[in-house]
Amino acid sequence: MTYNDKISRQFAVMTVVWGIVGMLVGVLIAAQLWIPALNFDVPWLSYGRLRPLHTNAVIFAFGGCALIGTSFYVVQRTCHVRLFAEKLASFVFWGWQLVIVAAAITLPLGITQGKEYAELEWPIDVLIAVVWVAYAVVFFGTIAKRRVGHIYVANWFYGAFILTIAILHIVNNLALPVTPTKAYHIYTGSVDALVQWWYGHNAVGFFLTAGFLGMMYYFVPKQAEGPVYSYRLSIVHFWALIAIYMWAGPHHLHYTAMPDWIQSLGMVFSLILLAPSWGGMINGIMTLSGAWHKLRTDPILKFMIVGLSFYGMSTFEGPMMSIKTVNALSHYTDWTIGHVHSGALGWVAMMTIGATYTMMPRLVGEKEMYSVKAIDLHFWVSTIGVVFYVASMWIAGVMQGLMWRAFNDDGTLTYTFIETIAATKPYYAIRLLGGILVVAGMLIMAWNTWKTMAGKRPEPVPAADPVY
Ligand code: HEM
Ligand code: HEM
Repeated sequence: MTYNDKISRQFAVMTVVWGIVGMLVGVLIAAQLWIPALNFDVPWLSYGRLRPLHTNAVIFAFGGCALIGTSFYVVQRTCHVRLFAEKLASFVFWGWQLVIVAAAITLPLGITQGKEYAELEWPIDVLIAVVWVAYAVVFFGTIAKRRVGHIYVANWFYGAFILTIAILHIVNNLALPVTPTKAYHIYTGSVDALVQWWYGHNAVGFFLTAGFLGMMYYFVPKQAEGPVYSYRLSIVHFWALIAIYMWAGPHHLHYTAMPDWIQSLGMVFSLILLAPSWGGMINGIMTLSGAWHKLRTDPILKFMIVGLSFYGMSTFEGPMMSIKTVNALSHYTDWTIGHVHSGALGWVAMMTIGATYTMMPRLVGEKEMYSVKAIDLHFWVSTIGVVFYVASMWIAGVMQGLMWRAFNDDGTLTYTFIETIAATKPYYAIRLLGGILVVAGMLIMAWNTWKTMAGKRPEPVPAADPVY
């Protein structure tokens, strides 16, 4: 028996491609915030249209391809069977690419629902729902026909991610279509806001967290060549994580028209969320216990461990920011942007890169990537870039918050708004530099991937991979 690795190969290549595209758009909007004239007065290059293009490209194209591709790779190996309904899997690949291309056309044209992370208009939403259901059939079908009794924990996380995203997407996008490019949502006012941030926060919890924890639970033990630190902890933090995430969304709506008790509820659940999040982080990092020396020579493990460290940092920071009095300072500032990218670039991108470097050579019948030195270079360029990005936004954010709330003795504001923007400008330049470094790292990865794939003709890999 052989595994269907063609599908994971396709997704892995597109992970790198969309990673570069999405991050390049990120670099462009970072440059626009520094020098606004860089929108060249062209409507489809304007910041307001490119920002959702960036978020959709990095989350759903880069992150999505990584999650779907690795889940197909992992589910076959941990269930000891070939993929269920392979033609449907191929449809998932092409359907997902179609969604991404449709997003890349409509968002710059200004066609949007105006809901963050759910900007795409209803025909694309319908396509997403169809592709996602097909994905669920392939994934759960493979689990159903497994040849081992046990369902490995990585599949629990991938499974929760698939089911929850389906529910979130459908509920948040319920709307009445009026033209091919416009629909009206069935929710209004504060109910709309509540549903939107129930969606938005759980997109973080299940797309950017649970799915990537699934990836972590397979690829970290694999790369460290040892079993996961505590299987019991993995099960406990799985159930705790998925039970608690669902209630934390209102921390995005502090000091709004939302009833006060809902805001407090969101805050309390966010604080509790620290525990299961750190359960996952500790379990991942401790998987290396007894094998720490490997960090000296294996740059792929470095990506994974630094990624887990950023996961730990952002899931400490998030609960702190959800405290209402802290949020009074952080909300609307670049602190939020620093938090987002500590999670997104530090955790999501680093784990994706590590997993892709582990998986890629195996997908093309090679032992390792073409150049391990290039992986090391990528690691350092990327890590320095992420630190520039996140640290500059933290400083800028706290500074903005403090300047906005500074009062004179007579009750007038100490600073005008434009003064706070002028003070932020140097930090925007540092963030831009960080972004350029991260993209440079991705280009090194593209070269290395190209060379690895050109090295040998893709061959099926035998099914003898050990399961941890
Ligand atoms: C080279 C790398 C990147 C650069 C230069 C970059 C740059 C930016 C910029 C300039 C913004 C807008 C900030 C603002 O409105 O003030 C932004 C927003 C955002 N980016 Fe990135 N980004 C990068 C990578 C990523 C990655 C890999 C992800 C996700 C996996 C990501 C997710 C997001 C999200 C979710 C937002 C919206 C944040 C919010 O609304 O609070 N970014 N990015
Ligand atoms: C225990 C875990 C976490 C908690 C409690 C948490 C909490 C928060 C809070 C309080 C905010 C600010 C809301 C506001 O003022 O508008 C926020 C924003 C955000 N967080 Fe987290 N966070 C956590 C982990 C993460 C991780 C791991 C990621 C990414 C991988 C992430 C991505 C985001 C994004 C994208 C936003 C910006 C949303 C927006 O306004 O567009 N968070 N988070």
